[in-house]
Amino acid sequence: MGAWSWCCFPGLTHFVAARIRPEGLTYSLLRRASGARDGEVNSPLHRERRDSGRRFSRGGGGNTVGFLTMATLLEARELRKSYSRATGVLSGNGRGPRFTAVDGVSFSVAAGETFAVVGESGCGKTTLARMLLRLIEPDSGEIEFDGRNLLALGGEELRRQRRQMQMIFQDPFASLNPRMRVGEIVGEPLAIHEPGLARTERRERVAATLKRVGLTEDALARYPHEFSGGQRQRIGIARALILRPKLIVADEPVSALDVSVGAQVLLLLQELQQEFALTYIFISHSLPVVAQVATRVAVMRAGVFVESGAVEQVLRQPAHAYTRELLAAVPELPGH
Ligand SMILES: Nc1ncnc2c1ncn2[C@@H]1O[C@H](COP(=O)(O)OP(=O)(O)OP(=O)(O)O)[C@@H](O)[C@H]1O
Ligand SMILES: [Mg+2]
Repeated sequence: MGAWSWCCFPGLTHFVAARIRPEGLTYSLLRRASGARDGEVNSPLHRERRDSGRRFSRGGGGNTVGFLTMATLLEARELRKSYSRATGVLSGNGRGPRFTAVDGVSFSVAAGETFAVVGESGCGKTTLARMLLRLIEPDSGEIEFDGRNLLALGGEELRRQRRQMQMIFQDPFASLNPRMRVGEIVGEPLAIHEPGLARTERRERVAATLKRVGLTEDALARYPHEFSGGQRQRIGIARALILRPKLIVADEPVSALDVSVGAQVLLLLQELQQEFALTYIFISHSLPVVAQVATRVAVMRAGVFVESGAVEQVLRQPAHAYTRELLAAVPELPGH
């Protein structure tokens, strides 16, 4: 079974419990409140989210997630993206054989919730995330964000909408420009979207954001390689946060981190969500992480959503064989 060990972080209402097991380290983040069972968060906010998650639940398969009664922030309909199988001279200018990385995915995300997409490596999660932010263009489908048809926007309108949608990238080692100082990295979105801002004011906002994610002001003048993986991911979070977006797409934000560092980053993301009324699309291959942070989840396999619904329902009563396979691979799920 292995022993439980735990630690508190200053200023947090949480503790992190880590269980050392023969097959590796699993953890659960437990935000304790009176009467909460292990892994069950019992704050009024979470109860509200959990209950709203139940309201959204439609139960079972299909590519459409949710029948939202709360304000919908983002809706994706029938998104598709294919890539050429071959690269370079063999690609025939993209006219050669192709495979479909995302194959007709539809879902809605309500303002203030955490919608998770879980699936194995290569199933199309990052491709989907990048399409949602228009970092890559879908072959077909529609994306409505904040009531606007995102794929129809261009120029200044698209730029304005983009500041409301930010991304935390999968790999904190590859996603930060090694030649830029942290102050420039975190301040870059401000430079792009608020070019009129005085230098001193920009510096102050960057420093305040760095402080909020747990870094000190001396980080401003340093380079990414001087930081640990967890600190780099905090820099990435600061960069995503600085424009105060409505939506953050977090693409496996803790998968490159060791368990205890990842747990602290998850706690930070949960705190920031409450503080800044953020909506998250949270991409992960880890069901324990999804169980911890999400209100609803879609299970993705080979480019399609095979099942979706409220987290509790999908994890307790999986309707699809693939979800059951994923669950069987997890030794223990908090609260399940
Ligand atoms: N630019 C590209 N050109 C060709 N194929 C690509 C490209 N980007 C992704 N793919 C392929 O599309 C499929 C889906 O990739 P994607 O990165 O979206 O998966 P993922 O679910 O994010 O995987 P991981 O969990 O490993 O990050 C993979 O087979 C990948 O090799
Ligand atoms: Mg990925």
